[in-house]
Amino acid sequence: MKILVCYFSGTGNTKKVAESIKEGLEGQEVDLQKIKDVDPAEIGKYDLVILGSGIYGGMVSKNIFTMMKKITEFPPKVAFFNTHSSPMSYSKKAYKRIIKKFETEGSKVVGNFECIGENIGVPKEVQEKMLSNLPPEEQEKQRKRLEEIKGRPNAKDLENAKEFAKSIIE
Ligand SMILES: Cc1cc2nc3c(=O)[nH]c(=O)nc-3n(C[C@H](O)[C@H](O)[C@H](O)COP(=O)(O)O)c2cc1C
Repeated sequence: MKILVCYFSGTGNTKKVAESIKEGLEGQEVDLQKIKDVDPAEIGKYDLVILGSGIYGGMVSKNIFTMMKKITEFPPKVAFFNTHSSPMSYSKKAYKRIIKKFETEGSKVVGNFECIGENIGVPKEVQEKMLSNLPPEEQEKQRKRLEEIKGRPNAKDLENAKEFAKSIIE
């Protein structure tokens, strides 16, 4: 299979996941590209496109939508992945419009993966300021959460990403 793994990653978490996905696709013909390097006219030449992004303000990156608008021919199969820092799931919500577009154009959705990515985009001082404005109980909860997600995606998350990739092509 000819496969494209493409992604937007502001602070590197989604990039790590994309690289692990590529590792999991061993034996296939795989291109790994940043979303801004993707030629939308080439998308239809792949058997499978695996599209990923971090979550920013509840959404995937605008760069994904920009690229989507320029696709002329859609691939037979598509899969998605995202990284985010909150405990909720974004798989369906954040890709809703994108999934709809691919399906309307005849692409089959064959997978959707997500994992936690530590929010390293916020400077420590800003984070501290935000935390100090919270009521003590909430502050405690948020600090605990920040500690929990430190270093993610971790080795286990990346192993899961690899397994996800394997499961798609099996
Ligand atoms: C500006 C900004 C907005 C974010 N908004 C959300 C959000 O709405 N929900 C969430 O769970 N995580 C949010 N995050 C956390 C990122 O989704 C998370 O750290 C992700 O792994 C970033 O991926 P990247 O390193 O590939 O850019 C946000 C991070 C930044 C920098």
